[in-house]
Amino acid sequence: MTSFPALRLRRTRIAPWSRRMVAETVLTPADLIWPLFVTDGHGVEEPITTLPGVSRWSVDGIAARAREARDLGIPCIALFPNTPQHLRTPDGHEALNSDNLICRAIRAIKDAAPEIGVLTDVALDPYTEHGHDGLIDAAGYVLNDDTSAILVEQALVQAAAGADIIAPSDMMDGRVGAIRAALEREGHPNVQIMAYAAKYASAFYGPFRDAVGSSGRLKGDKRGYQMDHANAEEALREVALDLAEGADTVMVKPGLPYLDIIRRVKERFEVPVFAYQVSGEYAMIEAAAAAGMGDRDALAMETLLAFRRAGCSGVLTYFAPLAARLLAG
Ligand code: PBG
Repeated sequence: MTSFPALRLRRTRIAPWSRRMVAETVLTPADLIWPLFVTDGHGVEEPITTLPGVSRWSVDGIAARAREARDLGIPCIALFPNTPQHLRTPDGHEALNSDNLICRAIRAIKDAAPEIGVLTDVALDPYTEHGHDGLIDAAGYVLNDDTSAILVEQALVQAAAGADIIAPSDMMDGRVGAIRAALEREGHPNVQIMAYAAKYASAFYGPFRDAVGSSGRLKGDKRGYQMDHANAEEALREVALDLAEGADTVMVKPGLPYLDIIRRVKERFEVPVFAYQVSGEYAMIEAAAAAGMGDRDALAMETLLAFRRAGCSGVLTYFAPLAARLLAG
């Protein structure tokens, strides 16, 4: 084996042109999915205190963000609603309203920038009084099959409004297969499913729950349906099931603390894997930068490239517009 001094690994690192030439991984704007929060009204922008730099937008503002995404080369937008508080109920039925915030936002995006893909979240937490992703019984247990039946309806309402990718984030068993069957049956054979396949019960979701207005409501925690962060083999079983049920792509969430899961999923299944760099991950970087403890742009770009290196096809990230701008130079 060749060794020092014949072999000097620094040789290829010294000049920028050479570093670029041997780079094993690249990040482009096409690898970014931009999560956006929708709120009621017109001309409304509400900054989210726990997510510095991120706002909720009324539907017209969402349309403007879609044009911005298109101009930046970002292929896809993910939508989450801040449902008006008076529309939140025990069964979350506003999720099935074909004129709810999400459906209106989908139509506005399709009008404003038809070339942008729209990914919609299937789960009931932005619509329920109790902040859980599904229906609960008297003991607070989140009912699996009853919830799944409603999620199927929610997915159909979103697909009818024009959603391109249905992304169930609720972690009920069997919902991917049920949604796939319904999409086929109801004339949406080309609507994709991106399964939140390995979604962990995480402390990194706090700012998101503020953004969708569910944090004060949540009773208990989500450990009865989201995964235990001690487990990796179980993530592989989740992914295997979702693929067997018809998922086109799978997601691991949160992102950076779970790069090992991303790598194992990619190696085992050889399918497109996405990461969600969640709200708490974003907020930590923003907080560090605000405190003078790091360079925000550099921290953000390093984390995004790490997802690509681990095997991701793309990343849902609140840094999407910043990253796309930095990539454009
Ligand atoms: C809920 C959902 C959550 C996120 C996306 N969909 C939070 C949760 O499970 O409580 C988190 C995203 C983020 O933190 O950025 N269906």
